[in-house]
Amino acid sequence: MQSISGKRIVLGVSGGISAYKAIEVCRRLVDAGAHVVPIMTENAKNFVGPTTFSALASEPVHDSLFNDWQGPIPHTRLGQEADLILVCPATARVIGSYVAGISDDILTNTLIATRAPVVVCPAMHTEMWEHPAIEANIATLVERGVHIVAPEEGRLAGGDIGKGRLAAPATIVAHVAEVLDPWSLDMSGLRVMVTAGGTRESLDPVRFIGNRSTGKQGYAFAEAAARAGASVELITTVNRPDPAGVEITRVTTAAEMHQAAVAGAETADIVIMAAAVADFRPAETSETKIKKGDGVPTITLERTVDILADLGQRKRPGQQLVGFAAETNDLITNAERKLTKKNADFIVANDVSAPDTGFGHDTNAVTILAPGGARDSLALASKFEIARAVLRTVVAARTPSE
Ligand code: CTP
Repeated sequence: MQSISGKRIVLGVSGGISAYKAIEVCRRLVDAGAHVVPIMTENAKNFVGPTTFSALASEPVHDSLFNDWQGPIPHTRLGQEADLILVCPATARVIGSYVAGISDDILTNTLIATRAPVVVCPAMHTEMWEHPAIEANIATLVERGVHIVAPEEGRLAGGDIGKGRLAAPATIVAHVAEVLDPWSLDMSGLRVMVTAGGTRESLDPVRFIGNRSTGKQGYAFAEAAARAGASVELITTVNRPDPAGVEITRVTTAAEMHQAAVAGAETADIVIMAAAVADFRPAETSETKIKKGDGVPTITLERTVDILADLGQRKRPGQQLVGFAAETNDLITNAERKLTKKNADFIVANDVSAPDTGFGHDTNAVTILAPGGARDSLALASKFEIARAVLRTVVAARTPSE
């Protein structure tokens, strides 16, 4: 979180039920070395107490335009001095006022008085989030260069379930880091193991059962992690140019990849299972070439080990497992099932049937799923950018002691 360290971040909390999550965001920003300046609207105080923010942030709360502890009309100074303003949660009212340029409290005044980048984290009921007025307001903010951390689907106030829940604190902090410095990602001191490519299961000395994976996404992970300062082992089935500073382990079959991955995972802090591992292999491999003159062969298959699930069983405290879900249908449902079944910390769900996001492309678009329903959708970007964004989310979710 190098990009956050030393930065002056105004944390504007408005009056939504998810204001309690802003406490966790505040703590994470302070832990990352930011000077956090808390602002609360009157309504926010219906949900959380100002004392909490005064105690956890880097200075006492600002909650009045006219009776601030630093003197009257603090908004111009707050806005001018900020490196970034984070509105978390952002209610429909705050978003509407900001769009319309109406400065009716200390938070909206500060937003209008700043030239710093602004990150807005909307949180509201599904009906409100989908209202044309809100949709239009969000579109206007995006046009103006405001960064929006989209809300997630999940349980809302009053027990309803739907889209509108505030994004997870780790996701919000990762967005802040990305906005402050799109190139920064500090993984020094971390050991990362990545698998890449598709496994090949021999039928005979010349033929194998394989898949369409080219290893591009896995190599992008290895390169991104190494560039960020991690020590990286790449277990690969393909022959692409070796990323600089990465230790390469070559394998061919699922069984070889399993053996290498179990050994590598013993010391890895983060495991990225980007490889397309065969689920089945021929029960028998012919030692000589199968000849067509011998008739049409019947090939019996047997299951391979699910490497990710096995690593999920062996997971050490503090170790993070990232799996992929390459799907052609029911993307999120299938990905959620894999997250739980394989005891992974994250599943990167990827629709391999969509244009530009399948095997062999240089671009990808994914949704990152974390336990507890947190989701982060990454729009179409290069595989390297996708890798960096996923790594940023994973690193942001590590607790300070990890
Ligand atoms: N995986 C693995 N070992 C296997 C199969 C898959 O470690 N034998 C890992 C992949 O590397 C990926 C994740 O599990 O990170 C999901 O892979 P995917 O092929 O999408 O799912 P499957 O487990 O094969 O499930 P399904 O056949 O239902 O799609």
